Amino acid sequence: MEFFEVLYGRRAVRKYKPDPVSKEDIMKILDAANYAPSGRNLQQWEFIVVSGKKKEELGASYEVVAQAYTAGWAEKARAEFIDYARTYGGAPVIIVVLTDFSEDPGIRRMNLESASAAMQNMLLAARALNLGSCWMTGPLNDEARVRQILNIPDEKEIVALTPIGYPVEFPPPLPRIDPDLSQKVRWLE
Ligand SMILES: Cc1cc2nc3c(=O)[nH]c(=O)nc-3n(C[C@H](O)[C@H](O)[C@H](O)COP(=O)(O)O)c2cc1C
Repeated sequence: MEFFEVLYGRRAVRKYKPDPVSKEDIMKILDAANYAPSGRNLQQWEFIVVSGKKKEELGASYEVVAQAYTAGWAEKARAEFIDYARTYGGAPVIIVVLTDFSEDPGIRRMNLESASAAMQNMLLAARALNLGSCWMTGPLNDEARVRQILNIPDEKEIVALTPIGYPVEFPPPLPRIDPDLSQKVRWLE
């Protein structure tokens, strides 16, 4: 798939088919992440590939978060979101991205940005393989539970999670707030 087709075709996917994803494809996605730029070339990212019982535990945790988040929503929309949270949209795999924690704000920022670059590489690689993904930080509203389930030590910062799986569909691209970039860009000469 051509690069810009991948770029414009990526969408947050929230409904997945149960079909398994091959280990080979997961490794391709992780390898793409591993080729991201990084502050001081420290390549300060780590990944946890979660499936099976641990995925169910993550889902149970996100379900509790989703129940609080959707309080006050219309009944149908609420039930759908909670179901999405509990099952991670039915995706067979979740990848969790970690970076090194630092007390130093500058280093912390550098580490988070490096790992975010790795995260975005993952989402694009997944799209190139016709796999869906969804950058997620919502589950970290109960970060303590996520850490406990995945046995993540305090020296590691959790950046985000993404389900990976074959989408029921890739939704069409979302309109841009500023499509011609007249508001978001300043050219200084
Ligand atoms: C930092 C970040 C956090 C996000 N957290 C969540 C989340 O917790 N749950 C979710 O369903 N989507 C989450 N998203 C996905 C966004 O909702 C989605 O990217 C946005 O609506 C634009 O849609 P698109 O990715 O299809 O272009 C997150 C995206 C980013 C970049």
